[in-house]
Amino acid sequence: MRHQFDTVIIGSGLAGLRAALEASGEGSVAVLSKLYPTRSHSTTAQGGIGAALGNEEPDKPEWHFYDTVKGSDFLGDQDAIEIMCEDAIRAIIELEHLGVPFSRTKEGRIAQRHFGGHTRDFGVAPVRRACYSADRTGHAIVFALYEQCQLKGVKFFPEFFVSDIVIDNTRCHGVITLEISTGEFHIFSSKVTLIASGGYGRVFKTTSNAYASTGDCLSILYNRGIPLEDMEFFQFHPTGLYGLGILITEGARGEGGILINGKGERFMERYAPTIKDLAPRDMVCRAILTEIKEGRGIDGKDYVYLDIRNIPKRTLQERLPEITTFCKIYMGVDPSEQPIPVFPTAHYAMGGIPTDIDGRVFMDEKGSVVNGLFAAGECACVSVHGANRLGCNSLLDTVVFGRRSGKAIRGEIRDMEYGRIRNNELERSRMLIDSILTNDGKEKIANIKTDLQDRMMEHCSVFREEKNLKGLIDSIRILKERAEDIGLKDKTRKFNTELIDALELKHMLTLSEVIASSALERKESRGAHYRVDCPKRDDTSWLKHTFAFKTEGAIEFRYKPVAITKFQPEERQY
Ligand code: FUM
Repeated sequence: MRHQFDTVIIGSGLAGLRAALEASGEGSVAVLSKLYPTRSHSTTAQGGIGAALGNEEPDKPEWHFYDTVKGSDFLGDQDAIEIMCEDAIRAIIELEHLGVPFSRTKEGRIAQRHFGGHTRDFGVAPVRRACYSADRTGHAIVFALYEQCQLKGVKFFPEFFVSDIVIDNTRCHGVITLEISTGEFHIFSSKVTLIASGGYGRVFKTTSNAYASTGDCLSILYNRGIPLEDMEFFQFHPTGLYGLGILITEGARGEGGILINGKGERFMERYAPTIKDLAPRDMVCRAILTEIKEGRGIDGKDYVYLDIRNIPKRTLQERLPEITTFCKIYMGVDPSEQPIPVFPTAHYAMGGIPTDIDGRVFMDEKGSVVNGLFAAGECACVSVHGANRLGCNSLLDTVVFGRRSGKAIRGEIRDMEYGRIRNNELERSRMLIDSILTNDGKEKIANIKTDLQDRMMEHCSVFREEKNLKGLIDSIRILKERAEDIGLKDKTRKFNTELIDALELKHMLTLSEVIASSALERKESRGAHYRVDCPKRDDTSWLKHTFAFKTEGAIEFRYKPVAITKFQPEERQY
């Protein structure tokens, strides 16, 4: 079936919904999602959204700007970061007016709490900057924006899986999708396509990401010749539930929780004497793993405790109800009585599809854009997070840059033609899917996926090293070959989730090779990318963004300077 919309948005998380709401002011808007929209991964965002409202204590956008630059280990582009931090206050008030039920202070203002790396007076002490809706902030915002999009007549296509994004030379024409329930193809021609498809944490064994976070659209674009930026930077969150990876919000430490090792020590005092447990995530993850490596895990094992027993029960009920329930259900731990076993969990992709400050996708490191193609949210790299994102800046990124993209789209579509998708493009998708369905190969999806996730976790997570990365890249290439020999049990077309798994696995393999190769190339340590064989940050050689291009042979790397407008790189101490 063929469809025509002025704007087609892939992804119904926060960036997609905020962009859809804005774009709906001009022309028709369709949102495609491989999930039911209100099940997008944004709903799992727990602890908050950052803005220097100053409702609980003095704060300024400039301090937020500085913290974000420093948190990014000076790799974030400062023009984009300044825009985000300056726009944050307006964005929060707007969300409130759109119906988001933020938690309140006694006086009725939007409440704010501490989060990692957020400080006052350029690093002097922690500041309460995270606005929150208990520990279900993402859920509250997604539902409010979804309702608003319905009001504006945005058309949703739930459970449509993107099989291709059609780009020829410098123009994006639209999208080819598989309707999961029927197995039929749908072609969406558009004036503009916006990718807001989220992250890809599922390439790692232990992750806070939903099953759907497999990075399909990034892999499709990469295979279509669009570069991917800064893919070596993948954030681990310090407090995943041990053995499961389910997120325990940093808001728990923001409310007063502390990390303790097997000797009962509050070890973050040694690693970040000023802000301790509220240091940025990259530092806290390395501290936890160092404690474990040096034998100070709990009972010598490979986890530490997050202790929130000092938080009053009433605060837990009002501000942290979700994680309290998670601890009880998944670990059998009542966190008001017992400490919580935690271990770092793959959480957030700083890298992604390169864009300008209005979401236009770059096709090279020089700034040439693809006409009719935008990206926003976690899948995009604008880059406001650089080498390490601060907590609460991801939700902010989605609403600020989702809105800016929607606005830019509104301005551009008046003068644009609809894209043209020829039948041979559909044939490409059809052949791919037929070949998977008809292959009688011996390989099982689960075996290859587990192998990939284990290896990525072992060799490309918090600590990395040249020889391990080389071995990892070799094994990913072998896994890619094995993936050509997958035999599905289910050969039908309707609601074939095994087919979707097979397609997702191919994308995960593609992205893993780019992540590991980018990590091998960057011979320094910065933010979330820590090379034990090059442990220092090297601004002389590496203060630059990586652009990875697909070529016939090896991946080609090119580089782009970092935008530095105000804060010169300094040593990162907390
Ligand atoms: O810890 C958290 O609630 C996560 C927040 C974030 O990633 O921004």
